[in-house]
Amino acid sequence: MQTKKYLWVHIPILTTMAALTIHSTQAVESHSYSTTSGQYPVPVSNLAKPSDIVIQSKNSQFSQNYPRQYQSWYKTSESTDVVPALEEDPRLIVLWGGYGFSKEYNKPRGHFYTVTDVRNILRTGAPMTPTEGPMPMACWTCKGPDVPRLIAEWGEKDFFSGKWAKAGNQIVNSVGCADCHDTTSKDFEEGKPALRIARPHVLRALDVIGKNFNQMDTTDKRTAICANCHVEYYFDKNGVNNVVFPWFNGLSVDDMEKFYDNIQFSDWTHSLSKAPMLKAQHPDFETWSMGIHGKNGVSCVDCHMPKVQGADGKVYTDHNVGNPFNNFQNTCANCHTQKKETLQNIVESRKQNIKEVMLKLEDQLVHAHFEAKAAWDAGATKEEMQPALTAIRHAQWRWDYAAATHGGYMHAPDVILKVLGTGLDRVATARADLATILAEHHVKTPVPIPDISTANAAWKAMGIDIQKARAEKAKFLKEIVPEWNKEAISKGLIDTPPPAH
Ligand code: HEC
Ligand code: HEC
Ligand code: HEC
Ligand code: HEC
Repeated sequence: MQTKKYLWVHIPILTTMAALTIHSTQAVESHSYSTTSGQYPVPVSNLAKPSDIVIQSKNSQFSQNYPRQYQSWYKTSESTDVVPALEEDPRLIVLWGGYGFSKEYNKPRGHFYTVTDVRNILRTGAPMTPTEGPMPMACWTCKGPDVPRLIAEWGEKDFFSGKWAKAGNQIVNSVGCADCHDTTSKDFEEGKPALRIARPHVLRALDVIGKNFNQMDTTDKRTAICANCHVEYYFDKNGVNNVVFPWFNGLSVDDMEKFYDNIQFSDWTHSLSKAPMLKAQHPDFETWSMGIHGKNGVSCVDCHMPKVQGADGKVYTDHNVGNPFNNFQNTCANCHTQKKETLQNIVESRKQNIKEVMLKLEDQLVHAHFEAKAAWDAGATKEEMQPALTAIRHAQWRWDYAAATHGGYMHAPDVILKVLGTGLDRVATARADLATILAEHHVKTPVPIPDISTANAAWKAMGIDIQKARAEKAKFLKEIVPEWNKEAISKGLIDTPPPAH
């Protein structure tokens, strides 16, 4: 193992930053929520009330005083590629049958585009008024600093109540300064990090896992900042569709599955199998914590936001959050002596191995959904179907947890492989149960699978009118979004609209 003693490498950085971070703890406490009860269910009466915490959400406001951080943050706009996942792998359209994800799902890109992408994605629909549309307010939660601003102004209850379109003219700045910093603190004014979590539900979730933010050391805080958004979460239907992280039993795939089962939660009912499904979001923090780097205290920031030296010799944090291999000398090479190609090949081969197993699980799940449909069509009863449907739910949850964990092949490849392996086990159980039911109802096997070789074929097979969804979205983008932009500019929230694409 050619690992440098990384503490040594970090000493120059730690000494420059140490003086800075001690003070920021105090600042964090003075401009943050202290209400942090981590119980479930969170009674609506315990949600954060409006507060006098001031959140300066306008990112451009910081360009003058923090040119290095601002300019490197702005560079996330260079990660422009929208990679459509459904066209690449049409099986996903079947797996998410009956749920918005089957219409459009893209791989992540730069932080600069969060607002643009949530407006453009077919999943948020085409609401022509503030009270229409498929999605609740919670869908904005990880998009930018206007979210903590509104939570402070309105309180959590009023923030989360209502439809997504309610705040279209308010949430207009993409992931930025006030998402991660107490920008009104004295420390920040002096150029210190003053890291802060400004979303009350995140503070409550960290309490649940015994990590009170204000008591954390600097390393933990650096990762917790990313856990604002790069986590598994769900919308509490018993509350006001407020965001909750399902961490009450732990962070593993089994722990969260147990939690969801206990509260009988499901995100949607599958259109073919009628199974009560779970959609994994992006448990990046959770899988990182179980991987080799997480276990060794290497934070997200060590790899994704390294300290760099500017042309003037000043050291600052590179805010261009992206692929750490693009910044190899300041990231991996701080701790490892191997060549870039060597490490990149290791990561790439892990990615391919995981992909191979993942596709096998997807194929099995596709069969299971169609077999369940055939069983229902042949008159199978709820009682007969229940065990198979639970097995489908668990198998697909495992697949989704592995698939939606962006960078999981890097952060914790062993964990991901185990999750996929247990997913294959669950889907085998489902299909064995279904085979018995199909035989009892005299259904000829194998149950045929329609053509799903392209996204268009799969949309047709699943009865999804994609042209209609796209036409409605185009109308919304043409008629409503410019109004949102105009109103936001007149309120002084932004000077120029978020990019259209
Ligand atoms: C995704 C979270 C995130 C966002 C968004 C973000 N920062 Fe930071 N920032 C950090 C982290 C992490 C550090 C390093 C903290 C540490 O060293 O402990 C940091 C450090 C800083 C520092 C301290 C000096 C330095 O360079 O280390 C300043 C000043 C700063 N950021 C300003 C900004 C400004 C201005 C913006 C908006 C343009 C911004 N940040 C956006 C996470 C963020
Ligand atoms: C306020 C929410 C939020 C915070 C805080 C946040 N992210 Fe993100 N991040 C997102 C969203 C949303 C996307 C997807 C953007 C898109 O595709 O439009 C994303 C995308 C990314 C990407 C993909 C970038 C690319 O170019 O492909 C990386 C890597 C990433 N985040 C890492 C981090 C790290 C590391 C931290 C902590 C320092 C962090 N994020 C903090 C919300 C957040
Ligand atoms: C040891 C270094 C390291 C640490 C620690 C680390 N990452 Fe990563 N991460 C990477 C690398 C390298 C990649 C990209 C691998 C590739 O595809 O080449 C990546 C990929 C990602 C992606 C996917 C980007 C995309 O476009 O698909 C996200 C999101 C992400 N990381 C977030 C995080 C978060 C959040 C944390 C902490 C909870 C974290 N990372 C910790 C190295 C790291
Ligand atoms: C802050 C220090 C640090 C940084 C930065 C860092 N690593 Fe590591 N890495 C470690 C430590 C510590 C271990 C565990 C070493 C051990 O077990 O002996 C490790 C282990 C590894 C391993 C072997 C363990 C395994 O997964 O089988 C690989 C591969 C690896 N790192 C890749 C990377 C890559 C790629 C990057 C950059 C994207 C990176 N590391 C960045 C500290 C770091």
